[in-house]
Amino acid sequence: MTFRYATRMDQVGPSIIREFARLTASPEIISFAGGLPAPELFPIEQLKEVAVRTLDKVGRLALQYSDTAGSPALRDKIAGRMRAMGVPATAESINILSGSQQGIEFAAKIFLDPGDVVVCERPTYLGAINAFHSYQAQFADVGLDDEGMIIDELVQVLETTAGCKLVYVVPDFQNPTGRTWSLERRQRFIEVANRYDLIVVEDHPYGALRYEGLPLPPIKALDTEERVLFLGTFSKIFCPGFRIGWITASQEVLAKFAVTKGNADLQTNSLAQAELNEFLDTYDLEAHIGKLRDLYRHRRDLMLDIMGRDLPSAVRFTRPLGGLFTWVELPDPADATELLSRAIARKVAFVPGTPFYARDARASTLRLNFSNTADDRMVEGMKVVIDVINRSLASPAGSVAGHPGGR
Ligand SMILES: Cc1ncc(COP(=O)(O)O)c(C=O)c1O
Repeated sequence: MTFRYATRMDQVGPSIIREFARLTASPEIISFAGGLPAPELFPIEQLKEVAVRTLDKVGRLALQYSDTAGSPALRDKIAGRMRAMGVPATAESINILSGSQQGIEFAAKIFLDPGDVVVCERPTYLGAINAFHSYQAQFADVGLDDEGMIIDELVQVLETTAGCKLVYVVPDFQNPTGRTWSLERRQRFIEVANRYDLIVVEDHPYGALRYEGLPLPPIKALDTEERVLFLGTFSKIFCPGFRIGWITASQEVLAKFAVTKGNADLQTNSLAQAELNEFLDTYDLEAHIGKLRDLYRHRRDLMLDIMGRDLPSAVRFTRPLGGLFTWVELPDPADATELLSRAIARKVAFVPGTPFYARDARASTLRLNFSNTADDRMVEGMKVVIDVINRSLASPAGSVAGHPGGR
């Protein structure tokens, strides 16, 4: 049969995320491709106890349909986390979502008409690009430097692009670059968002995974006009398989999210919410996050040390203060997709940078994940990554000069 798809599907290609998940899954591949937490730190023994206790204590409730907005007890605990970040929140200012990805999708569905312009970082999270694309959005992107989004460029984009409605940002340890915005940039950004009346989606999956320096307030904490939709998640600080995230926003926006969620999946898994709530009652999540930080800081340092030692200075890479990724910029005209096929032939994977650009992709970039690979495999895999990069730079096509060196 020839299916006649909705026109919105014209913009939807095969899922690159799923393609890379396939690469990551094969045990013989050393993969720096995914954004996966370290499974050896999943609290499996604790969760066995928690599962039994949850069923004993609240089994009939936890296996029943439940409130679309989520478990009141869990929302209350999340509100506490939000207040600790400087956001005045109560259980009523939180709706539970099936992961923060669902929050991005719902924001697109709730706010975007075909042709509306989403402003985003260059590069940005490809799962967001795909979700906005599927609602027929157009994109305008704004460059990043070491301090975060370049605000003068943002203003220029807003002045010269008609239809800018929503801005999507990942200010803490961004996926894919690992970059973090300074406080000053956050303050200037919210001023501009207020001036141009933009809806802000602040995606914050990595905020708690800081390996050095002091925490910065999320943009939501600077929001005096209730224009920021803050998306949080337990995926990176607990277990992504639970699929529990949340949105903190105004009552008006939360009501739209609740209706949209009702239509999409009625509610997030009640049992998972009850188990997470029981886990948080019994165990110290901060101590768990502390263990993640120690392991990921170590893995980040190992990866960056290897790159600092073995890559030529024409190759730049970010030195993330937290999160899961470093971003590598090769001298143009290197093509990271071509390098990937050479690396795969040697059983090593990473993600080329191209899909992280909403427009005008730069093929000479790539993203490396450091959280999911143990030391010995990291050393072995990075040898291959560095070798394919060095060989490409040595080849005539890759030896074009003119890219500034340094890190
Ligand atoms: C920036 C960003 N936003 C959202 C998500 C989706 O996270 P969740 O598991 O909470 O849906 C990810 C996952 O990697 C991400 O990197």
